[in-house]
Amino acid sequence: MEIKGTTKVTGVFGYPVSHSLSPVFQNSAFKYLGLDYVYIPFEVKPQDLKEAVKAIKIFHWIGVNVTIPHKKQVIKYLDELDENSKILKVVNTIHNTDGKLKGYTTDGEGFLRSLKEDGKFKPEGKNVFILGAGGSSYAICGALINEKVNSIFITNRTLENAKKLKKNLVEKLKFKNIEIIEFEKRNDKKIWQNIDLLINTTSVGMKENDPLLIEKENIEMVKFVYDIVYNRKTELLKTAENLKIPYLDGISMLVYQGAISFEIWTGKKAPVDIMKKALYEKI
Ligand code: ATR
Repeated sequence: MEIKGTTKVTGVFGYPVSHSLSPVFQNSAFKYLGLDYVYIPFEVKPQDLKEAVKAIKIFHWIGVNVTIPHKKQVIKYLDELDENSKILKVVNTIHNTDGKLKGYTTDGEGFLRSLKEDGKFKPEGKNVFILGAGGSSYAICGALINEKVNSIFITNRTLENAKKLKKNLVEKLKFKNIEIIEFEKRNDKKIWQNIDLLINTTSVGMKENDPLLIEKENIEMVKFVYDIVYNRKTELLKTAENLKIPYLDGISMLVYQGAISFEIWTGKKAPVDIMKKALYEKI
């Protein structure tokens, strides 16, 4: 990669940021398409976020991704938000056009594209069971509702967070077919009769000895399993594989959410296969 006077700068603001895999696949995509862009990880401490956002304008960067812990805090420093960011109150992509900073959230759309393109699974009319009620769950639920799923069952370790998520979805998206399942009751057999899609949005599975949150007999009932964890093959995915249930891991979502950022910044279709290949080679 040759850095020139004309090179357009993109990157990611995070803290910590050294583990980020985005530079790997974004730079390989720029290289593949011969685009004069570069993607740089920027370690930004929470107290420096305001100044860091100012730097995007000062240095005329094209845009950045925003990751933990800045996804919510960054909103107050932006000039404009896309519809999803307004509803979910999170931003993971900033685009600088002529000094105006617009925030986007590409996680939900990234998840959907991954599910439909890599997983060949159409969510319309389906019943979905979601583990977790954090930021990823918000984005994924929002995207699934836009795709007209039939129903969503949510379970979460902290019941209050599941209730907040439901309230938000009912109020903002006018979607009523949401049921909260108490965490202790998540394996009740009767819930699982009609579930098509099981999604893990929690961090459970990232560590080697993490438990399988859903019993095998219940997983056996579903048609597709999605785990957003991407650093290892989780127990959930190993179980799906043993049961011959189609599944996807978080690599696919990571690539597609990045692909959408790439498309916002460059206006060009992202070479998703190249990005995926770069990632798999790295991990
Ligand atoms: P993200 O933005 O990736 O969704 P997050 O907002 O921190 O991250 O959400 C993490 C999710 O994983 C939450 O649903 C969290 O449950 P709580 O609301 O109870 O915190 C869930 N989670 C994290 N560790 C967990 C564990 N050991 N068991 C069950 N759920 C867990």
